[in-house]
Formats: sequence, C-alpha cells, structure tokens
Amino acid sequence: MAASLLGGLIADKFEPSAIWVSDPNQSKLDTFSKDFSVNTTSDNELLCASVDVLLFAVKPQLLRKVALGVKLAIQTHKPLIISIAAGILESDLQRWIGGDMPIVRCMPNTPALVGSAMTAMVANDLVADDQRAQADRILRAVGITLWLSDESTMNAATALSGSGPAYFFLVMEALEQAGEVIGLTPEESRTLTMQTALGASRMALESGEPLALLRERVTSPGGVTERALRALESGGLRQLFTHALQEANRRADEIAHMLGQQD
Ligand SMILES: NC(=O)c1ccc[n+]([C@@H]2O[C@H](COP(=O)([O-])OP(=O)(O)OC[C@H]3O[C@@H](n4cnc5c(N)ncnc54)[C@H](OP(=O)(O)O)[C@@H]3O)[C@@H](O)[C@H]2O)c1
Repeated sequence: MAASLLGGLIADKFEPSAIWVSDPNQSKLDTFSKDFSVNTTSDNELLCASVDVLLFAVKPQLLRKVALGVKLAIQTHKPLIISIAAGILESDLQRWIGGDMPIVRCMPNTPALVGSAMTAMVANDLVADDQRAQADRILRAVGITLWLSDESTMNAATALSGSGPAYFFLVMEALEQAGEVIGLTPEESRTLTMQTALGASRMALESGEPLALLRERVTSPGGVTERALRALESGGLRQLFTHALQEANRRADEIAHMLGQQD
C-alpha cells in the first residue's frame, strides 16, 4: 500500500525530497529510494521529527507497537496523523500516540495498485480544514476519496469498498465460468467478462445516472437480458449481497474490538 501511495504521489507531482519513508528493512528502503527518490530511514522517531504529515501504513496488528514507539516524537512535533490501518479506531490510535492529535482515518482498497482506489476517509475534530485538504490530496493520488460524516460507518465502508474488489472478482469469476458452460473458450470468456465489467463501471461512473436506469436501458422487454436478470433476481442476488455486507460489517466490528483492546 505504501508503494502504491508513493507511486501515486510522485506521479501527482509531489516533491520526492519532501517525502520520508521509514521501514525496518534496509532492502525495502533501498527499493523506495531507487524507485521514487524519496528520503529513507529505519528510525521511525527521526521520521516523525522530519514531517508535517505522518502516514501510518503498517499492518493493523503492528500499529500499537509502532505508535507507542513514536509517541514522544509525535507529541513533540505534532504532525497531522493519517492512518490507513484497517480496523483501528481513531480512539485507540489516539490513546497510543498520547492524545490530542489531529487524526484522519482512511480505508483505501487494492485498486490503489493501478491508481483506481476508492478511499473512505474520516477526520476527528482536531483536523483543520487545510489538513483535511492535505489528507485528501494524498489519498487522491491513488484514486477517488469519499469523506464519511462519522467514524461509526467506517466498518460499513470497509465491508463495501474495502472488501468490494473481492466481490467483483467473484462475480467476474462466476461470469467467466458460466460463459464457458454455454460454449465460449476460456480466453473468449475471460476477455468478454473483463471488458464488460470495465465498460459497465465506466458508464456508471461517467454518466452519473442511477444504476437502475442504466440497467433498464439495456433490458428490452422480452429480450435476452431480461431473461437473465429474472433468473438472477429470483435466485436472490440482492438479498445475498445484503447478507454478505452485513456479515462483513459484523466481522469488521469484531476485528476493531479485538485490535483496540490493549492500552
Ligand atoms: N492492502 C490493502 O488492500 C489495504 C487496503 C486498505 C488498508 N490497508 C492497510 O494498509 C496497511 C498496510 O497494508 P499492506 O498490505 O501494504 O501491508 P505490508 O505490505 O505488510 O506493508 C507494511 C509495511 O510496514 C513495514 N513495517 C513493519 N514494521 C515496521 C516498523 N516497526 N516501522 C516502520 N515500518 C514497519 C513493513 O516492513 P517489512 O515488510 O520490512 O516488515 C511493510 O513494508 C495495513 O494497515 C492495512 O490494513 C491495506
């Protein structure tokens, strides 16, 4: 995720010499330095003393340890804190870094790798307008951002867009297999599936029209599409997705609770 963000930031004309990356692994730092010409260090505290915006991109289960290690430096230099760690509540991170810090919590998704992320974001009350704009610009370097009005819906966003790429991969996988069942070769089925998914998504995004309207426009009465849609609806597709998102939401709640338990 850090490499995707760095690639996006450099492509978006952020000045590499203004960016610092810290990682315990020297060979990773060498790669970051070679690929992006950014400053590198294996000293997290030194990094905190050098930046106005501090973005945590470690695994959620490591965040507590890393945050406690830089608590003093954070309280001394007071950077804007951005966390992309899935499932870590603002209140838990705030406690680990000593309190009273502006924190933006974000949930990007894996299409960040190709500059097409959907990132849900939420700011605490200590984040100033210019800091919010700064955080937005950073995450927009890898895709689109959406600000949530309340952190309580972050797990719902995680259930939808955080995990969402996997749902679409599954749907595409199912279409690809179904195409083969009705006579297409694997290659034909794969190409038809992928370009159709891309085209449908681009049409929905670029037209801005309601999805139901777009669907109705390609569904002639008594036609081919109508027959397929009827099968999908009677098979309970909508209820299945509602159930899936409710389950994902519940699991995100459980994980957040588990990860935030320690002081
Ligand atoms: N991947 C996704 O789709 C996705 C989506 C949304 C949010 N996120 C969040 O993004 C974060 C990063 O995920 P990822 O998949 O990019 O994980 P990752 O590949 O494991 O990256 C984490 C990085 O943190 C480094 N690190 C470990 N210990 C450190 C320390 N003490 N100080 C500084 N750096 C340290 C790791 O270095 P070493 O490898 O050298 O140990 C590694 O380079 C996670 O919190 C995840 O929840 C990811």
